[in-house]
Amino acid sequence: MQEKLDSIKKEALDALEAITEISVLEAWQVKYLGRSSAIMEIFKSLGTLSKEEKPAVGKAANIVKVALETASGEKESQLKQERINQSLAGEKIDVTLPGRRTASGGLHPTTQTLREIYRVFGDMGFQIYRSQEVETDQYNFQHLNFPPYHPARDMQDTFFVKSAEDRGDDPLMLRTHTSPGQIHAMLEHTSKYPDDPPPIRIILPGMCYRYEQITARSEIQFNQVEGLAVGKGIAFGDLKGTLSNFARRMFGQDAKTRFRASHFPFTEPSAEMDVGCFLCKGEGCSVCKGAGWLEILGCGMVHPTVLKNGGFDPEVYSGFAFGMGPERITMMRHHIEDIRNFWANDLRFLEQF
Ligand code: DAH
Repeated sequence: MQEKLDSIKKEALDALEAITEISVLEAWQVKYLGRSSAIMEIFKSLGTLSKEEKPAVGKAANIVKVALETASGEKESQLKQERINQSLAGEKIDVTLPGRRTASGGLHPTTQTLREIYRVFGDMGFQIYRSQEVETDQYNFQHLNFPPYHPARDMQDTFFVKSAEDRGDDPLMLRTHTSPGQIHAMLEHTSKYPDDPPPIRIILPGMCYRYEQITARSEIQFNQVEGLAVGKGIAFGDLKGTLSNFARRMFGQDAKTRFRASHFPFTEPSAEMDVGCFLCKGEGCSVCKGAGWLEILGCGMVHPTVLKNGGFDPEVYSGFAFGMGPERITMMRHHIEDIRNFWANDLRFLEQF
């Protein structure tokens, strides 16, 4: 009997040894430890043995059964561990690999210029005033001293939202410049402080629209930053000082400025400000077209009629105004030759800034 038990044990353990998969182990457990396994048959046959044989055989058979159960349990945990190791190996990461860069967005070059303009004028005590983009003829032109049929209107070909047929001589339009914001700001201010209004110092940034041929130099949609200062005793020297200071902070401490006489219906006198070309330092290059100067903005002393339209008494108050194009300034600073790049949404262009 002992021999038979030994051979059952040996056969079972040899078979167990070769097992590499859980499903095969389960079949093994049925075959060698299940109800009709050889070892169980021995237990079942114990009743047929004599009283003397029974305990010894029972004990010996039990030792084999326990040995098989133990071996089976060990095999099972070994196989489970191998399975875990395999799946961990599949998930292994190489912590020494360099990371992948996450693409981060950037500010549009015009936005960067705008923010710099806000910062410089903010430092000088100017507040930002945001005005509407849809305007009436009255605000976009008439209050700014462009009467109907004034020749200066030709410079500002207009997108109409509601035509003259609908609204008579006051059609709705997309603003062609930020200047109508001056009137809104002044009227708001003088109606809030009807007697002796305190000074105004604001910049008015925003989008403007002109019904023009799109070319490398002109777009139908662009930004402007308007400026307005109104108070008592404001003189042309204040305008020059403020704008020269702006130029130095924006383009470098050694930036030179010059003012040339010009004409705008809403300012008197009017001027244009040039900055010494910051690329060639005045020697003449392709950006300044050999002139050594770059035209940056239009400006002037607020016309008495415009002050009156804003609710100020021009006998008591005076002011200066200016208007500039941040796209144009960005083009000069970065040597960008085609204004259409600003709206093309081409990442190869945008990612350079
Ligand atoms: N509104 C003018 C334009 O669009 C720019 C301008 C010039 C604004 C002179 C001003 C100014 O406030 O004083 O061409």
